[in-house]
Amino acid sequence: MRYEYSETSNRVVRSEIREILKLTRKPGVISFAGGLPDASLFPIEDIVEITRRVLTEKGYLALQYGPTDGEQEFKQAVVEFGERNGERVSPDQLTVISSAQQGIDLLGMLLVDPGSPVVMELPSYLGSIQAFRRLGARMVGVGMDDEGIRMDELAARLDELEAENARPRFLYLIPDFQNPTGITMTVERREAVLELAAERQIPIVEDSPYREIVFEGDRLPSLWTLSGGKGVITLKTLSKMLFPGMRLGWMYGEHDVIEKVIGLKQSVDLCTPSFNQLIVADYFRSGKMAANLVAAIECYRPKAKAMLDAMDRHFPEGVWWSRPRGGMFLWVRLPERVDTKEMFVEAIENRVAYIVGQPFHCDGSGTNTMRLNYSFPSVEQIETGIESLGKVIRSRL
Ligand SMILES: Cc1ncc(COP(=O)(O)O)c(C=O)c1O
Repeated sequence: MRYEYSETSNRVVRSEIREILKLTRKPGVISFAGGLPDASLFPIEDIVEITRRVLTEKGYLALQYGPTDGEQEFKQAVVEFGERNGERVSPDQLTVISSAQQGIDLLGMLLVDPGSPVVMELPSYLGSIQAFRRLGARMVGVGMDDEGIRMDELAARLDELEAENARPRFLYLIPDFQNPTGITMTVERREAVLELAAERQIPIVEDSPYREIVFEGDRLPSLWTLSGGKGVITLKTLSKMLFPGMRLGWMYGEHDVIEKVIGLKQSVDLCTPSFNQLIVADYFRSGKMAANLVAAIECYRPKAKAMLDAMDRHFPEGVWWSRPRGGMFLWVRLPERVDTKEMFVEAIENRVAYIVGQPFHCDGSGTNTMRLNYSFPSVEQIETGIESLGKVIRSRL
């Protein structure tokens, strides 16, 4: 049979990273390439017990189709969780989604036509770049400094677009412990971005999976909170703060926007599994979520420190890296002449893997960058792996 593929599907290129990741599974390779939570944190016993209870007491609901915007119990749990973390949202500003990636996809479907500009940080989350590319968006990257997106560059890019009469459909931002850089946007920068976006009437999509995993300093107010819920759509997910396996997330936004999203979601998957929502709602009610989050923070803090200390010891002059105060990643910039994709084979030969930074750049730049993950490997692996990586980098300089 000759299948005629859609233009949309033809815009999807198989991620080079997926191919590269296969190499990282070679025995003996210490991998800083993935983005997985530490599985020792998963509250498996609790979930076994809750699952039995949910099936016994509410199996008729759990195994049934549910409302597209989510189970009432789960929505309520999410509202309360938000309040405890300084975020106010009403149930009509909220929809459950099948994790943040679905939220990104739905917002893309809602707001982007082929050729529409979407402005984003440079670098940014690969899954969003892939989703926006599939939609045919014109991605416009804006550089970052250690306080977040650069305001001078942002204003300049917006001026250029305005001169072309090309209005960006939204500004996509990851303010907290950004994937991939680990950088957190300062409060001043958040306020400046909100002011500029309001002035130019550009909605903001705030993607914030790492906000709760803060191991140094305070949690900063979200763009949602600072904006009073105006002009901002916020994506949340359970993936990093609890576990990714149930594919559960939620989205806040102005009521009209959320209604549109729910309409689209209906056509995509009818509803997010009620089974998963009822289990997690029960877990939230058990009060164990907070303790699990503390355990995650206590698990990742020493790992991040071990990585930073090892880098201080083993990485040569001329290499820059971020110093995240939360989240799961840090970012490394090598001198311009070093191509991290070329260097990757040598790293694997030295039994260490990272993720090449260039695909995180919507404009194809960043060939001298890489992302390192510290949440999954053990402290011992981090120390050994960073020493090897230091050697590989030295050999290139
Ligand atoms: C910034 C960002 N957004 C969204 C996602 C997707 O998460 P989820 O598992 O909720 O789909 C990730 C996952 O790594 C991420 O880093």
